[in-house]
Amino acid sequence: MSVFRRDLLRGRVAFVAGGTSGINLGIAHALAAHGAAIAVLSRSEEKVAAAIADLGRHGTPVSGQAGDVRVYAAVEQALGAVAETFGPPDIIVSGAAGNFVAPAAKLSANAFKTVVDIDLLGTFNVLRAGYAVCRKPGTAMINISAGQSTTAHWGQAHVSAAKAGVDMLTRSLAGEWGPEGIRVNAIIPGPIDGTEGMARLAPTAEARREIESRIALRRYGTKDEVAQMAVFLASEAASYVTGAIMYCDGGQVLAGARGMPDGIGGPG
Ligand code: HXC
Ligand code: NAP
Repeated sequence: MSVFRRDLLRGRVAFVAGGTSGINLGIAHALAAHGAAIAVLSRSEEKVAAAIADLGRHGTPVSGQAGDVRVYAAVEQALGAVAETFGPPDIIVSGAAGNFVAPAAKLSANAFKTVVDIDLLGTFNVLRAGYAVCRKPGTAMINISAGQSTTAHWGQAHVSAAKAGVDMLTRSLAGEWGPEGIRVNAIIPGPIDGTEGMARLAPTAEARREIESRIALRRYGTKDEVAQMAVFLASEAASYVTGAIMYCDGGQVLAGARGMPDGIGGPG
């Protein structure tokens, strides 16, 4: 992170669900670098401990808790602890997600439900529990969606359905909570280098090249590039932005759907 003046978020309190790895951890770093106190939530105690240690380098207060976003009481408890320790959160990021590539014909009902529960129900839980304790007015809520919400991606029916739901939840809650001065926006990252998501979606160099050939900027993005959009949405610079679904994808969405590779689709 070098292009922004630091300290845009001095004195703010940020809660990042799923903030212990990948894109969300990158966002947590950027928010902390701009002066925010940070609290992270994810399932693994080890990942939470490692993220707390890593985020400490920015010199702002950091805390974390292990919990599952699918469980409302766990999210509620974590947010309550944040409010008690640091004060009401000003910034709430919902980025926990699960993904695997599987054609719909090979998805069990539980596999579909698992991804919808983490991505969509989890986002509802984070925002709903966050609403109960957040600073009003002035709170910025940021959901992490994906290009699967917008264009069809074979082997991703579960993620597409979940993330399309995240986009509409973003718009719905922006409308309902706007009168209270709460902004709700979403970021759609494109393929981001060095992430679990892309390791699962494009495990080979050939798959990566195929994806890059369809991106206007012809490359994967970086975690910092997504984090900079999150800093904007979290800050006063975005004070009149709500209900927006913002692409940080190098223009990937412009090319539409990926082709259907052999072996994906049909009863197979
Ligand atoms: C088909 C699968 C499967 C697979 C799991 N399932 N993996 N089905 N193909 N590869 C099925 C299981 O058989 C089971 O159904 C059901 O899903 C639940 O599996 P569990 O292992 O019990 O679930 P759980 O322990 O809750 O783990 C959730 C998970 C896991 C999503 C399956 O992979 C996870 O924890 N992921 C978190 C990390 C992650 O995915 N990061 C990437 C985020 S990127 P049955 O019927 O057998 O009970 C992202 C996409 C962004 O979100 C887009 C990138 C461009
Ligand atoms: P990642 O590193 O696997 O991050 C997922 C995070 O969510 C982890 O911290 C994980 O930690 C946590 N998590 C997963 N399930 C959870 C649950 N049930 N409850 C609480 N926390 C949970 O993945 P990533 O690739 O960086 O993706 C991050 C976000 O960006 C996701 O929303 C993804 O959909 C989105 N996205 C990614 C890309 C990409 O290129 N990677 C592109 C578009 C959108 P635990 O395992 O400890 O729970």
